Amino acid sequence: MPGEESKTVLLGVTGGIAAYKAADLARELRRAGFAVQVAMTAAATKFITPLTLAALTGKRVITSLFEDRSDEETLQSAIAHIDVARAADAFLVAPASADVIAKLALGLADDFLTTAHLAFRGPLLVAPAMNTNMWEHPATRENLAMLRSRGATVVEPGFGELACGTVGAGRMAGLDSIVAAVRDALRPPEDLNGEHVLVTAGPTREALDPVRYISNRSSGRMGFALAAEAERRGASVTLVAGPVALPTPKGCERIDVETASQMCDAVLDQLGVATIVVMAAAVADYRPVRRAGRKLKKRDGPPHISLVETPDILRTVGERKGDRIVVGFAAETNDLEANARRKLRAKGCDLVMANPVGGETGFDTDTNQGILLRPVGEPVRIEPVSKAEMAARILDEAIGLRQRRAA
Ligand SMILES: Cc1cc2nc3c(=O)[nH]c(=O)nc-3n(C[C@H](O)[C@H](O)[C@H](O)COP(=O)(O)O)c2cc1C
Repeated sequence: MPGEESKTVLLGVTGGIAAYKAADLARELRRAGFAVQVAMTAAATKFITPLTLAALTGKRVITSLFEDRSDEETLQSAIAHIDVARAADAFLVAPASADVIAKLALGLADDFLTTAHLAFRGPLLVAPAMNTNMWEHPATRENLAMLRSRGATVVEPGFGELACGTVGAGRMAGLDSIVAAVRDALRPPEDLNGEHVLVTAGPTREALDPVRYISNRSSGRMGFALAAEAERRGASVTLVAGPVALPTPKGCERIDVETASQMCDAVLDQLGVATIVVMAAAVADYRPVRRAGRKLKKRDGPPHISLVETPDILRTVGERKGDRIVVGFAAETNDLEANARRKLRAKGCDLVMANPVGGETGFDTDTNQGILLRPVGEPVRIEPVSKAEMAARILDEAIGLRQRRAA
């Protein structure tokens, strides 16, 4: 949870151009709720200053094996590599240079980072970043195979233009994938095993005539992120999607619909098998009473459009929910918490994710923020995070609710 920082990531930064990305990575890890302790190789300090990373993590950055740290609160003794390794829950090396990958594979221990690696017992993740030839070199391939065979996670680099001017493989993986890999490594696996999660996503379209419709700015990304996260955590997933331009997340069954009424039919049709229902779609509240059979012509003047309410899918699901967990979304431009709380009560939801509309998060963006409301207990405030991260938090909360009920 944000602010709690219950798990600590030891972030090893090594000497490569991508070291500058470690600053954003440290920030993303903290946003994801992790405490971050940075250790840098000597070469890394040539690319980014320890001060920057210290400021972003709120912790002194370790750059040498032999500094005197015995007076520091966070470290119990002068043998920092042992203390730090003991305190860390995951060891992430990002960016990982070809050199450090080789040292980790061989078990060398000639600086703080590599020595702490040998003293560490938890999950190791490496996010390599290097020139394509270095990446493709048999030595690097063999070293990575060795690390994998010992259980390390290699967050594969992407393809693209590299700092050296070549285009090819070797660019450090996206920060989202790295943070997701850390979460994966630390999460009890398959905690949604046995659940069937029904997710709605995207807008609906309510036709005025064969070419025009009433809709909204929803891109579907939040719902798709929820479906992907639920599947990753072991759930069977049915995704009811309005018209969106997004690929189907791996392993999810997808039902495409256009109107609110079609979405309602699809949801009610699938409700029987669902154990958790997450209604992330932005369903049109109204539709035109009449859909013109032919395109409305400009020469006929502005049309008078009468609207009628669409089915209230969330309320209907709330009424029939049985022991399902139902999560609603409330996008609000004003009175966020009060409006969302009303929705929580009126629609029989177990959780409502209230998102402020406007600014740089929310509709049609990659990030989201808001307040997660529960029938009892304090609301959970979620600062701007990626939609993947927000999906993880919402599902964490749904599982927590399920466990509390079972107890
Ligand atoms: C400008 C510059 C950029 C470099 N970029 C990378 C890189 O992206 N990946 C890599 O593996 N090595 C890169 N190197 C080489 C490493 O810095 C070098 O192998 C160094 O010994 C790594 O030290 P470390 O692994 O202890 O951090 C670069 C070197 C220079 C001078």
